[in-house]
Amino acid sequence: MAVDLLLGLQWGDEGKGKIVDVLTAKYDIIARFQGGPNAGHTLEFDGIKHVLHTIPSGIFHDKAINLVGNGVVIDPVIFKKELDNLGKFDLDYISKLLISRKAHIILPTHRLLDAASETAKGKAKIGSTLKGIGPTYMDKTGRNGLRIGDLEMDNWQEKYRALANKHESMIAYYNVDIQYNLQELEKDFFEAVDTLKKLTFIDSEEYLHQAQKDKKSILAEGAQGSLLDIDFGTYPFVTSSNTTAAGACTGLGVAPNKINDVFGIFKAYTTRVGSGPFPTELFDEDGARMAKVGNEFGATTGRARRCGWLDLVALKYAVQVNGVTQLMMMKGDVLSGFKSLKICTGYKYKGETINHLPFNIEEENISPIYTEIAGWKEDLTKITSEDEFPENFKKYIAFIEKELEIPITVISVGPDRKQTILR
Ligand code: GDP
Ligand code: IMO
Ligand code: MG
Repeated sequence: MAVDLLLGLQWGDEGKGKIVDVLTAKYDIIARFQGGPNAGHTLEFDGIKHVLHTIPSGIFHDKAINLVGNGVVIDPVIFKKELDNLGKFDLDYISKLLISRKAHIILPTHRLLDAASETAKGKAKIGSTLKGIGPTYMDKTGRNGLRIGDLEMDNWQEKYRALANKHESMIAYYNVDIQYNLQELEKDFFEAVDTLKKLTFIDSEEYLHQAQKDKKSILAEGAQGSLLDIDFGTYPFVTSSNTTAAGACTGLGVAPNKINDVFGIFKAYTTRVGSGPFPTELFDEDGARMAKVGNEFGATTGRARRCGWLDLVALKYAVQVNGVTQLMMMKGDVLSGFKSLKICTGYKYKGETINHLPFNIEEENISPIYTEIAGWKEDLTKITSEDEFPENFKKYIAFIEKELEIPITVISVGPDRKQTILR
């Protein structure tokens, strides 16, 4: 059976966690393929809010297997905290959670290197979540990394020590003021590794291959968003992995011709956390209102998210790069009460009108061209079927579908599982 993908089309935090949770009932396996604890995926049901960082968002369902793929980077310390949180609920997560032997491990010194690199950059910093993502992927591509499978070897601690020592000299090289007590960090790290070792490590590409032969249904869960992709995002203000569809192939070992549906998920407006260009960003009351009503604070770092109007130029780009087959629109409820809404349909770029994302999207070069659409007053959060949608909300949806030429098949009107309308 084929593999479906679910990916964020903006700068992350589109609501991937919520939708994966909603869709899990239809799948046998949920698999994360890239990123790591920089992700914060929120799920809400029965009045409880859960935030997952590395563990796939299907974990609260009885049957589904949740797999952490080879493309993911794992911080044992954060993973252990996630497991501890799950421990409060009646879940048999031990048997439902599998980890790829080829996934790379985030060491405490990777986190320190992240901090040193950001500090050294000063104003030009990426605004990283400081979880060690960049340095860990650097060690992966530099062929120095420590992998989950290494933990099953006798000499892994030697490998660890050699890498950590090297990192310490690199931290010193940055010559910035980073205070740390490595012994203390390592105590937590080694304890967490012991916990991690209680889980099942597998050759996940082989497992997924067999699962496909056995006609199991698989949903790959993306992290971050397409505009944070290392190749196609707003470089250098991106993360260090391929967040787009191709990342699912390399991050799981699934062949491109085995991908079926690509679900592209987006917010009805746009947010971004961290530094980097954001053409439709708002600095006025409208932006403040989105932030407040949408409760736009990062699920991982708690930082305020920047807010702005929907950017269809960027969205179209993401739809193309990913081969999106179905769209899912989140947080339309946050836009209730705006008299009129703006949607960016082009950019003014160095005096010319363009409809694509140029190489350089720095503020001084680019200004959005907007189409204005009448807003709606009605609260959407109690709506359970699309016939109840206000007329102007229907028009907003229809405008996006027409521009992107892809149907919106899921509309979310609140954070809870139940506030989801399947069309
Ligand atoms: P993810 O990283 O893509 O999983 O998204 P996050 O969990 O970081 O951020 C999405 C936030 O929006 C979370 O707080 C969700 O609970 C919330 N959310 C998801 N869908 C909706 C929605 O339709 N309406 C509202 N108001 N909140 C939503
Ligand atoms: P989810 O999966 C939003 C951003 C950071 C920073 C940049 C690089 O919850 O959508 P990194 O820690 O990777 O070095 O940070 O990417 N970023 C995210 N923004 N949602 C995320 O994940 C993000 N993961 C990283 O804010 O700008
Ligand atoms: Mg998030």
